[in-house]
Amino acid sequence: MNLYYKLVLLLSLISIQGFSSEYDWGKTGHRATGQIADNHLSKKAKKNITQLLNGEGLAFVSTYADEIKSDENYRKYGPWHYVNFPFDKKYGEETPSENGDLIKGITQCINVLKDEKSTNEDKVFYLKMLVHFIGDLHQPLHVGRGEDKGGNDIQVRWFKDGSNLHRVWDSEMIDYYGMSYSELAMNTTQLSKLQIDAIKTGTVLDWVYESQALAKKVYTSANVGEKLGYKYMYYNFPILRSQLQKGGIRLAKILNEIFG
Ligand code: ADE
Ligand code: ZN
Ligand code: ZN
Repeated sequence: MNLYYKLVLLLSLISIQGFSSEYDWGKTGHRATGQIADNHLSKKAKKNITQLLNGEGLAFVSTYADEIKSDENYRKYGPWHYVNFPFDKKYGEETPSENGDLIKGITQCINVLKDEKSTNEDKVFYLKMLVHFIGDLHQPLHVGRGEDKGGNDIQVRWFKDGSNLHRVWDSEMIDYYGMSYSELAMNTTQLSKLQIDAIKTGTVLDWVYESQALAKKVYTSANVGEKLGYKYMYYNFPILRSQLQKGGIRLAKILNEIFG
C-alpha cells in the first residue's frame, strides 16, 4: 500500500471514530423525551419554562449538553452523562467517581433550579442540562458497567455495519425505526392515569436502579461480534420506546414540581 492510501485510510478511521465516539441517546432520542415532557407540563410550568428559555422548547434544548462537549471549558460535565456502579451493590457503597456522575449532575441541576438565589443564566444552563440528563438516565447503558464504558467497548454488527452495543441503544435502533422525534412523541403508548402515576412514583435513584436492571438484560441480549438486526429491533425497540416515554413523563414531573 503506498503512502497516499495509508494516509487516506488513517484519516477516514479518525473521522469514523469521531462520529462514533461515546455519544448519548442520539439527537432523536433526546428530542423525543424532551417533547414528551413538554406534552406533560402544567400550564403554569410551560409558561415559566418558555419564558426562561426564550421560546425554545424542551426538545430543542435537549441536545445542548452534547453540543457543549466540543468546548473544553465544559469538559468537567463529561462524566455527568452516565453513572457506573457494580450491579450487585447499591449506589454509594463503592465510592462514586470524584469527577461526578449522572446522579450528582441531576441533583446539582435540580438544586440550582430550586434555589431562588440562582441567576437566570444559571437556571437556563442547568435546565437545559437537566432535560438532557433525565434522557440519559433512561438509556439503560448509561447505567451500565464501567469496565466496558456502558457497552461502548462491546463491538457488534448493526445489519451490515460495524457498531457497538452502546451505540445500538443510543441511536442505531431509533434511527433504523425512521420516525422523527415529533412522530415518536406523538405515537407514544396510550397510558391510563394510574399507569402514568406509577411511572411518576419514586426518586431519581429509584429510576437509576430501574435502568440498571434493564442494563443487566441488555448485556445478555447480544454476544460480542454478533450481527444484530430485525430480530433485535423486534424484541428491544418496545423497551427503548417505553424508556423514552418514561423519561418524558418523569422529566415533566420534576419540572412541574419546580415551575408549576
Ligand atoms: N460513555 C462514556 N463512558 C461511559 C460509561 N462508562 N458508561 C456509560 N456511558 C459512557
Ligand atoms: Zn450514550
Ligand atoms: Zn448525554
